Formats: sequence, C-alpha cells, structure tokens
Amino acid sequence: MKPIVFFLFIYLLLHIEAFAQRENVIYDESKVPEYQIPDVLTRFNRGKVKSEKTWFKKQRPDILKVFTEEVYGKFPGNQEISEVKVWETSANAVNGLAIRKQLSLFFKKNNHNLEVNILMYLPKTDRKVPVFLACNFTGNHAVYNDPNIRLTESWVANNPSVGIINNQVTEQSRASASDRWPVDEIIKSGYGLVTVYYGDIDPDKNDFSDGIHPFFYEANQIKPKIDEWGSVAAWAWGLSGVMDYLEKDPLVDAKEVAVLGHSRLGKAALWAGATDQRFAMVISNESGCGGAALSKRIFGETVLMINTSFPHWFCDNFLKYNNKEELLPVDQHMLLALIAPRPLYVASAEGDPWADPKGEFLSAKYASSVYELLGLEGLPAKEMPEVNHPVMGTVGYHIRSGKHDLTLYDWQQYIRFADKHFRGK
Ligand code: GCU
Repeated sequence: MKPIVFFLFIYLLLHIEAFAQRENVIYDESKVPEYQIPDVLTRFNRGKVKSEKTWFKKQRPDILKVFTEEVYGKFPGNQEISEVKVWETSANAVNGLAIRKQLSLFFKKNNHNLEVNILMYLPKTDRKVPVFLACNFTGNHAVYNDPNIRLTESWVANNPSVGIINNQVTEQSRASASDRWPVDEIIKSGYGLVTVYYGDIDPDKNDFSDGIHPFFYEANQIKPKIDEWGSVAAWAWGLSGVMDYLEKDPLVDAKEVAVLGHSRLGKAALWAGATDQRFAMVISNESGCGGAALSKRIFGETVLMINTSFPHWFCDNFLKYNNKEELLPVDQHMLLALIAPRPLYVASAEGDPWADPKGEFLSAKYASSVYELLGLEGLPAKEMPEVNHPVMGTVGYHIRSGKHDLTLYDWQQYIRFADKHFRGK
C-alpha cells in the first residue's frame, strides 16, 4: 500500500470513530455514570492540606506536575523574545477614545523564526492601564472594524464565508469576528484589549513541523515527546511571551493583566494562568473538556472524543485516559485551583452542552476550597445559579442563555469582575 493511501485510510478510520463517538454523547443527566472527584486538598499520598504553606510548597507543585506531564505537556525549554518591531501607534483609534498599537514579537533560534503579531487598543489616560489579553481565532484584523489593522499573512483555517481561501485571509475577512470583541465597551470601561492570532504561535492542525514546537527539537525529532507540549500548551506559552512584552510596555499595567479565552483558547488561558502567575486574573469562556469542565463526569465531550478529533492539543500521555477518566490522578477543578489566590471566572452557555456547563460549575465550586484555605471567598454559590444570574466572589461563574460563543453579555460580566477585583468597585 502506498504511504499516502495508508495515511488516508488511518485518517478516515479516526474520523469515522469521531463521528460514531459524537452519536454516543451523553446529554442526559440521568445517564451520567457514577464518578469520584479527587479532593484538591488531599495529598496524593493521602494527607490533608491544612495550611497555606503546604498548599504552595507541596500540593500546588505536585498538582502542577501531574497536569504538566499527563495532560498539557511540558514546555521543553526557554525561548525569549529576539526582537520587537512596532509597526505603528495611533492616538486616534476607536473614535478618538483609544490608542491603537500594532507590533510583532520575533522569536528566533538556529534556522527557526516565528512572528507573533499583537494588536492593542488602550484607553487614553496618563496612567498605565489594566488590560484583557486574549488569543483570537482568525487574525487581529477580524476583531474590530478598523481598516488600519494589518491583515494576517499566517495560515488560517479556510472559511470562504468570511473570505478565507487557500488558508489566507482577504479584505473580506476584516471585522468578521467583531461580534466577539466589543472594543468600544472595553475602552469606555477603562480597560485595554491586547489580542494575538493563536495560529501565529502554533497553527491549529495536527502537524508539529510548524509554529513554536520545532524550536526545541533534537536532531531528527519531528514531534514533541510523550510528556511534552501539545498545541494548548503552545498557545499558553505564547500568552506568556506576550506578557514578557507587556511587562516592558510603558502604557500597560502588567500587574493587572486578565488572561481570557473562549473554548479551545479558554483551555489555553487556563493553562497560561496555571503556569504563569504573572497573570492577575484568569477568565475561561466555555472552555469545556480539557478546560474548566470536569473530565471524570461523563457529559458532553469526553477525553476520548477530544483526543480523537484534536490529537495535537494535549500531550500523548493524555491518551492513556481515553475512556479511562477514572485513572486520571487529577481533575479539572485542580487546574482551576492552581489559579488561586488570583481571581478566576468560569462561564458557560445554556446552549453549549458539549462543554458541560454543570461540569464547569462544579469544577469552579470544588476549586473554591483552595481559595477558602487562603482566606478568600471562593464561589459564592453552592448550587448552580439560574441562567443569566452571575455570581462573583474571588471565583466567579455564570451560565448565560444562548449558544457556544463569546458575547457582549459575557464581556459585561468580565468587566464587572475586573472592576470588583482591580478597582474594588
Ligand atoms: C470543539 C472541541 C472543543 C473546543 C471547541 C472550540 O468543539 O470539541 O473542545 O472547545 O471546538 O474551540 O470551539
């Protein structure tokens, strides 16, 4: 059999399996199999965590290690920014209310080069401003209706309805995702938006020859080792790289950066928040399986389903837990707990059962015991709140009406949450 036919055959097999699994998705609460969730404050060798010191010195590092080696994969080394190029700064953006700044971070090593384009809108003030930092799905030009935004030249998944053809965007792609980015509201509330196209860091395809991964390969290596980073960790690494830059930007208050992400990018935002404590706030918008939702609760997407459809997102060790979630030494509430004591917001949508809203809520609730140990208010709700009734302690949560998306309503809650924690409002 020719190699191409063989690969085609395997590809088809995997996809048939993925479709078959989707048929079997559990969406009925009464069909959820029994499960047990590890207590975040019980040590792996069974002792109880009773002090802040034991949490930070022992339990937190142990949990982080398991997520690193078994779920997201290790960052194989350090890669600093090689060069920053500011393309333009304009003090006349968003109807004169904001500064727009566009720049690129260049990463270079041996014959590898990566350019990560950053778009910033910052409210005009004489103080450093707090910002929301988020990856976007199709390029910075899609975020806002502004002809001055540079079109991405990176590979983007095809979508002819917004002018993405042959994996390249076109003029027609401008502002095509602007519904998700209420720049005017963000600016008027006194926050900046810093955004970057996730494909600049690692194109979202099952191919480890591009993006940041090859920077760290040994001779003849073509993909990360079984405990090394998949794409979610690569995107998280990129967010930390942007943070390295923000620490030097005179206009941004790097102590007040809220890292935010929707869906797969919510998974990346959570992993960025867990691995990099410079992020002062972490916001997960409908991140679902491998994000905020519990894995051991079988509802909506499962570990097998995600590993089958997106084999490049996690490390290969995670495959061990396909259909064997009970063997996972951790669950996702323990990932959320790694954010403590920093404010954490988890959001779900009623029309997004694939991401398991209840599993996301329970995860935020179970993570709260760590916040409480640290003397903070965790999630101020024992039961799932009603639709469109956000709750906000140091951990916040809402389930809104509507489908899987990042909406103005979601942003309004994140702005309120940031006001509460950054401004004491
Ligand atoms: C798929 C995937 C989810 C992911 C989502 C997204 O639905 O199964 O895990 O969150 O894509 O990123 O939009």
